[in-house]
Amino acid sequence: MASEKPKYYITTPIYYVNARPHLGHTYTTIAADAIARYKQMRGFDVLFLTGTDEHGQKVERSAKNNNESPIDFVDRVSAEYRDLWKELGLRVDRFIRTTETRHAHAVQHLFREIQNNGYVYKGHYEGNYCVSDEMYIDDSTPGATCPECGRVTERVKEENYFFQLSKFEKPLLNYYEQHPEFIQPEARRNEVISFVRGGLRDLSISRTTLKWGIPWQGDEKHVFYVWSDALTNYITAVGYPIRKDEFARYWPADVHLVGKEIIRFHAVYWPAFLMAAGLDLPKKIFAHGHLLFQDEKMSKSRGNIQSAQPIVSVLGVDALRYFLLREIVFGADGGFNREALIARYNSDLANGLGNLASRTAAMIDRSFGGKIPKVSELQPQDQELAKVAQASIAQVLEHYDKFEFSRALELIWSVIAAADKYLTTEQPWSLGTSDADQQRRGTILWVTAEVLRVVTALSHPVLPESTAKVWKLLGQTGNLASLELDNLRWGQLSPGIKLGEFQALFPRVEKTEAIERIEAMENRSQKPAAGPAPAAPASAPIAAAAPAAASAATEKIGIEDFAKVEMRVGQIQTAERIAGADKLLKLTVDIGNEVRQICAGIAQFYEPEKLIGRKVAVVTNLAPRKLRGVESNGMIVAASVGPEGRPVLAGFLEDVEVGARLK
Ligand code: MSP
Repeated sequence: MASEKPKYYITTPIYYVNARPHLGHTYTTIAADAIARYKQMRGFDVLFLTGTDEHGQKVERSAKNNNESPIDFVDRVSAEYRDLWKELGLRVDRFIRTTETRHAHAVQHLFREIQNNGYVYKGHYEGNYCVSDEMYIDDSTPGATCPECGRVTERVKEENYFFQLSKFEKPLLNYYEQHPEFIQPEARRNEVISFVRGGLRDLSISRTTLKWGIPWQGDEKHVFYVWSDALTNYITAVGYPIRKDEFARYWPADVHLVGKEIIRFHAVYWPAFLMAAGLDLPKKIFAHGHLLFQDEKMSKSRGNIQSAQPIVSVLGVDALRYFLLREIVFGADGGFNREALIARYNSDLANGLGNLASRTAAMIDRSFGGKIPKVSELQPQDQELAKVAQASIAQVLEHYDKFEFSRALELIWSVIAAADKYLTTEQPWSLGTSDADQQRRGTILWVTAEVLRVVTALSHPVLPESTAKVWKLLGQTGNLASLELDNLRWGQLSPGIKLGEFQALFPRVEKTEAIERIEAMENRSQKPAAGPAPAAPASAPIAAAAPAAASAATEKIGIEDFAKVEMRVGQIQTAERIAGADKLLKLTVDIGNEVRQICAGIAQFYEPEKLIGRKVAVVTNLAPRKLRGVESNGMIVAASVGPEGRPVLAGFLEDVEVGARLK
């Protein structure tokens, strides 16, 4: 099993199964995949881990709201993640699920070690908990909102096991100082350091209020806090504590790639757990920024979701990879938008790499019978281009080493542009048929083909599918993925090789049509994990029942149409007026597995304070929209009464559970 090669172990966060995969999750996983491919091309034995985080309150509630047992629910959604990564052709080596038995053993073992080392005690916790982020909140004022997501927290009071995180304040600070590369980028490192300097409080690591978790051995009414459980996945996956050889080979991880919102868990709690257990710390935690869509972080709760599949089916997987890694500076926040995606696709892929490959191959085909021509003496302009291409190799590798994908790609594309310009200036097609002209034409096309070979190899980690095609087109044998970038040099292209078959790379697309296709597929795919498809967006902030006279003329619909509307019992948590909008109230409504912000046109008939705690019927699968600039994510159902259409909120005479579905 042991390979001669040095190992490189890279991980993504394990994703919560309460949400189906969207482009935010895909972003991290694609970036990890590009790094994994790059490291493989640098001669490493790469282990790329991803997986799903399946315990905790949020997941337990989501399962309940879907009328499914937790295990059926997590099996189904976890498979969606695994299938998506397969569909996208990602080279995931291991996929871990926290519901696996081996993982329960690893968690129990790790915390037993930590307990044996004296860092665990039993105590009581009273405070606020954010179910959505699965974390305790420092602010203990009842009803405080979560600083991370803005949702109203829940009060918890319970017996917990505590981890003595406070003991690790100094050791962590020392570690950060001695390992400046441990947390990246720099801004995140500073943020973590100032958080730890602010003082660390002990951490509650078990819960007694839920069952859906890994039991605490010997005290089974406790289950592990979901983050203690989740973080451990990184060692379970490499054999801890049973497969000692494997663990010794792959641990510590070379990098944990995470989104910036979970940096604290990875750069504070996780290293503290490891220190307490006497295990090595991962070499690097790299936190990238957020993918924004419609100016906000893409997330299920905001409803501003784009998924990968529609893009992939219209433009191909490489187009998505290229866009995400070229357009967004890795580490910073960056926006996704469909116009920019298509623009990049057409300019950089169709007109850039695709065009260079097809025109070079076509000319070689026409003038040299499809064989790479001989190269004669290089002219200064040939040498100039050669120098640009050769110099780019080391620079691109340097950027990849620092995960600077956008800069690496920018540089590669500047070489493509230089090759295009070279062809335009040299005009091999306007040379004559004399031997000298044919020889010169051969040299120009050899130079161009060689540039193409170099840029193809360099962009392989980001564009695995299309570069493999160009590689074959250039008559190169062997798998491009196994090419060692350390051996890549300008000038290695052998004349006389027969070109491979030409396969379409990036056919140009018409912008409006491509956007419409992506949008239409996205709308179709946005039905909830189990259950109905979303209803068409409605424009009224409250669903007013049509007056009796009008309803007689209403068109009849089948049950399947009604089933498209998802309605749930919600409970109003906060209500306030909106300045400048005298009909609207801004509400936060608990709908079971999440708290939504909803605007309702009831301000003239309901006092905000009297609404708090009231249970209402909520349409939960409407596309979110903004009313008077305020985000509204759902609709409160009300009757419309009398000639002025006075809203009367629909309610329930019996006590109903929040989140229950109305059918
Ligand atoms: N289950 C925890 C992680 C446990 S790791 C031991 C969790 N899961 S999550 O499903 O919420 O996934 C969060 C991660 O998904 C982010 O850290 C990031 O990697 C990725 N992203 C989800 N939405 C994203 C964006 N809008 N933008 C960028 N990345 C995003 O937290």
